[in-house]
Amino acid sequence: MNVKQLAAEKAVEYVQDGMKVGLGTGSTAYWAIRKLGERVNEGLKITAVATSQASEDQARELGIPLVSFSEVDSLDLTIDGADELDGTLQLIKGGGGALLREKIVAMGSTRMIVVADESKAVTTLGKFPLPVEIVPFAWEWTVADLAKLGCKPELRRSGDELYKTDNGNYIADCRFEAIASAADLALSLQRIPGVVEHGLFIGIASMAIVGKSDGTIEIIEVDSGR
Ligand code: A5P
Repeated sequence: MNVKQLAAEKAVEYVQDGMKVGLGTGSTAYWAIRKLGERVNEGLKITAVATSQASEDQARELGIPLVSFSEVDSLDLTIDGADELDGTLQLIKGGGGALLREKIVAMGSTRMIVVADESKAVTTLGKFPLPVEIVPFAWEWTVADLAKLGCKPELRRSGDELYKTDNGNYIADCRFEAIASAADLALSLQRIPGVVEHGLFIGIASMAIVGKSDGTIEIIEVDSGR
């Protein structure tokens, strides 16, 4: 079993009958959705919302009952991956470009469990370039404002084209190297008008399940204050 699968399948043990579940995005969340599909086929009764087209397609194929946002006003549990997580469960997300939908879904959930392999666990966030979703209008100005925060922003590309999110926006990947205060940076990012959302998840996750190459898992729990 691979390490991502190990962490993801452990997280699925927290899903109980009757729950409304948020489905994350990425190569680790993939395993969680797959396991959830197995459990649904064995009789688990849940409803789910997805954070990306890819996860929605996967869930539909597996027979996981999906509902629209007009049918539920909150979720019980979201299981999602992360690009980096620190010991207090501050996260960088958005490597797969789904950060806006991921944040909406995670914040609308009573609980968020992060699933990751050990390479994602860091002492200080920032080695992974922080994904920031920006509107295409005047993106040049927004990128210049991002650079003033002390990073090297690069517009994400997909082949010869600029990458577009499921919401039709661009992603600026901002290389900070080390983020001294994620909370301060989040405030500065929110002040830039062209920024739709950023990939810092602070005070959102309450548990992380980290899979290790020796076949063990580490569970980190914090009081997310939500
Ligand atoms: C998607 O936008 C991301 O936030 C993913 O959750 C994150 O990139 C982790 O992906 P992997 O599990 O594929 O590393």
